Amino acid sequence: MDRESNVKIVIIGAGAMGSLFGARLTLAGEEVWLVDISEETIRIISKDGLTLTSGDGNIVTRPQATTQVSAAGPADLVIIFVKSWATPAAAAAAKHLLKNDTVVLTLQNGFGNAEILASELGVGRVIVGITSQGATLLRPGHVMHGGDGETQIGELRGEASPRLKLVADLLTKSGIPAQPVGNIAAFIWGKLIVNAGINAVTALTRLYNGQLAQLDETRELVTAAVQEAAAVAGTVGVTLPFTDPVAKVFSVAESTAGNRSSMLQDILAGRQTEIDSINGVIVREGERLRVPTPVNRVLTSLIMALDKGLHSDL
Ligand code: PAF
Repeated sequence: MDRESNVKIVIIGAGAMGSLFGARLTLAGEEVWLVDISEETIRIISKDGLTLTSGDGNIVTRPQATTQVSAAGPADLVIIFVKSWATPAAAAAAKHLLKNDTVVLTLQNGFGNAEILASELGVGRVIVGITSQGATLLRPGHVMHGGDGETQIGELRGEASPRLKLVADLLTKSGIPAQPVGNIAAFIWGKLIVNAGINAVTALTRLYNGQLAQLDETRELVTAAVQEAAAVAGTVGVTLPFTDPVAKVFSVAESTAGNRSSMLQDILAGRQTEIDSINGVIVREGERLRVPTPVNRVLTSLIMALDKGLHSDL
């Protein structure tokens, strides 16, 4: 990827986050393609554009959109925004977009996405990050920005690199402030803890992120889930990028107050959730390291039961 020339960005996954990033990057004047398996989504974006609702009102943006990944390539930058359970399929699709210096960035929730992409596409292509931007898909092709949050990106092995700065500058210029960091693993654990605290509890209670702190019951559940997750991270040996995990999680919930968490959006839309790569990871790592995680276990079981009720013949 080389900023001297125009950058062509292909986003795989036109859900809430893919649509938010797609709209912002298009508004900043970049060439953006959205790829999604949903024919309805692609038809709407191609015909009516991609609408972004934010504090500035409604803005219609006009990225390219296709269900055929080969029609979108080759790309300078590929951003993966599919649900974590669809990462193997996205990695296979991204193969159609590669040229020599294509960079593939994952900003997905959950654990293990970068490793899947690296094993399919080559470790040297992949950079990984986290974002706490809030976005709600109001309907296909129409996303509401639910609140600002930080975005950090890093190389898989933690080294600094010029391409990190290029990608961070590109995002920052489009209104998504992003920083290159050397210790991305710590940020990924930090984000995992944020998602472990917010997502399952909002999905079960149907509360907006900002309402979590207002009820004793949800405050206690979130606090317990986060304390367990932080204990697991500590035992793994990770130094989190914040000192008070519970305060951090409630501050993210506050800065994305008007947002429905991605897991709540999944449940409401009848989609499979990412529970396995969020609270499920805390439970499995807790078992491995003998750190008790009873609250994360109950949250995982409840969401898995919801998922199975929606997606299998019981
Ligand atoms: O998954 C989500 O919804 C988001 O990561 C976050 C930051 C919790 C905001 O809703």
